[in-house]
Amino acid sequence: MAANWKMNKLVREAKDYMAKLLPRVDDTEGEVDVAVFAPFTCLHAVARMTDDKPVLAGAQNLYFEDSGAYTGEVSAPMISDLGAGAVIVGHSERREIFGETDETVARKAARALDAGLLPIVCVGETKEERDAGDMWDKVSGQVRAVMEEIDSPRGHQVVFAYEPIWAIGTGDTASPEDAQDAIGRIRGLLKELAGEEFAGAVRILYGGSIKPNNAAQIMAQEDVDGGLVGGASLDADSFFELVEAARGEVARG
Ligand code: 13P
Repeated sequence: MAANWKMNKLVREAKDYMAKLLPRVDDTEGEVDVAVFAPFTCLHAVARMTDDKPVLAGAQNLYFEDSGAYTGEVSAPMISDLGAGAVIVGHSERREIFGETDETVARKAARALDAGLLPIVCVGETKEERDAGDMWDKVSGQVRAVMEEIDSPRGHQVVFAYEPIWAIGTGDTASPEDAQDAIGRIRGLLKELAGEEFAGAVRILYGGSIKPNNAAQIMAQEDVDGGLVGGASLDADSFFELVEAARGEVARG
């Protein structure tokens, strides 16, 4: 279960949140993997607090060069240096607002892997694309672009997140069946591209208006391995409820 705080929280707020969350996740270790994707400004504080805890600290973006004249950018080694172990790549807000392309997203994912960071690659379609019947064209193209850039042994360390853009921050969650349909197809495509072993091992999350009252149903879907959560992750109590919902589904098998 992954929290994406997006552009929220000052350092003090981040520390208070982690102080609340960390004691609770201690006994979910081995059952649910928990990650918190913080803004760069509080990532060091978050990463330090998770040092000896079963929570992965991550960044929300990176640049694919390691250093140089790229004003305002942050590289994979810089993220590792903060003590973080993961990074979100190609979130739809980066693609839609900041003009990231399938090509830059793929390069970022490959660079993250090379630097030993776990990339969570986001894919998903707009409402217009879904209504026009183009969902799979869009999503499969996004997945293919990343898989062409990385090779499969490293690819085991990639996580995909299916986040339909119309479901993000709208309260309009995909139905459990729609989430399963898209994620099942992504897994099928990964099998075709990288083989059965890879497709079976890779983790694919759902994201888009996950809340404590709908998380269990979505997590219960066969191909859904977890959630990437925005709004409902901003409060430590609400995020922990989602961790518990995922834990319940693990227990139910
Ligand atoms: P919401 O949970 O606020 O819909 O955001 C989802 C998301 O974009 C996570 O990356």
